[in-house]
Amino acid sequence: MNQSSEVRVFDGLEPLSWAAATQFEQLARVRAIEKKPFSVALSGGSTPKLLYELLGSTTFSGRVRWSNVHLFQVDERCVPPDDAQSNYRMIRQSLLASAPLPEENFHRMAAERPDREQAAREYAEDLARVLHPAPGEWPRLDLIFLGMGPDGHTASLFPGSQALDERTAWVVPNFAAQLNSFRLTLTLPVLNAAAHVIFLVAGADKAETLRQVLEGPQGHYPAQLIQPVRGRLSWFVDQSAAHLLKRQ
Ligand code: 6PG
Repeated sequence: MNQSSEVRVFDGLEPLSWAAATQFEQLARVRAIEKKPFSVALSGGSTPKLLYELLGSTTFSGRVRWSNVHLFQVDERCVPPDDAQSNYRMIRQSLLASAPLPEENFHRMAAERPDREQAAREYAEDLARVLHPAPGEWPRLDLIFLGMGPDGHTASLFPGSQALDERTAWVVPNFAAQLNSFRLTLTLPVLNAAAHVIFLVAGADKAETLRQVLEGPQGHYPAQLIQPVRGRLSWFVDQSAAHLLKRQ
């Protein structure tokens, strides 16, 4: 575990989500002052839903200069955007429906397209258009919210899956054998190029995996491979997920 990371334990998902929304708001303010776009990649799943609802709520929405924000997806299931499984659908319902983000500032992963490789290439071009990395450099997102599954996966980087070894492409299709389904996902080099990565982990079903990821031998879980090269790594976890940790 990268010692420069921080682990913050919260009494429940609500205080955890408030803290994550506050972090988003603060980083967004800094980027607005710097007159630079604030680029954020959002995960899917269930944990971040309350965070997204908070960001779109009257409490937070008015504090963010949304015209300066660009939202990307960390990963997407290969289903239509209105499918119940779609991460985009969850983000649209919980955040985009209420935050005044300019439509062109949400960058959707078109993972439903038959040509997944082409969809991945086009998403990488979208990242390049907004982040303008120098030639040969990785695109550097300002903030990435990640989740972690009970199997230690993050993004759509599942244990034993091919995308874990990708060190060239920014975005790839990936087959999740555990789910017998395809995904599109940002790759490890892009995730580790970010300025700030925040894991959001809640629920007792993740406690044993979280203990092993944070306090066990390294290199066993995809979540352990998230080690920002020039960035900060934070774990926002709730008490039920953290109760097996030595350090609290
Ligand atoms: C996805 C997510 C995935 C998620 C974890 C945790 O597409 O499912 O991006 O990486 O973050 O599976 O999901 P929960 O938050 O639902 O536990």
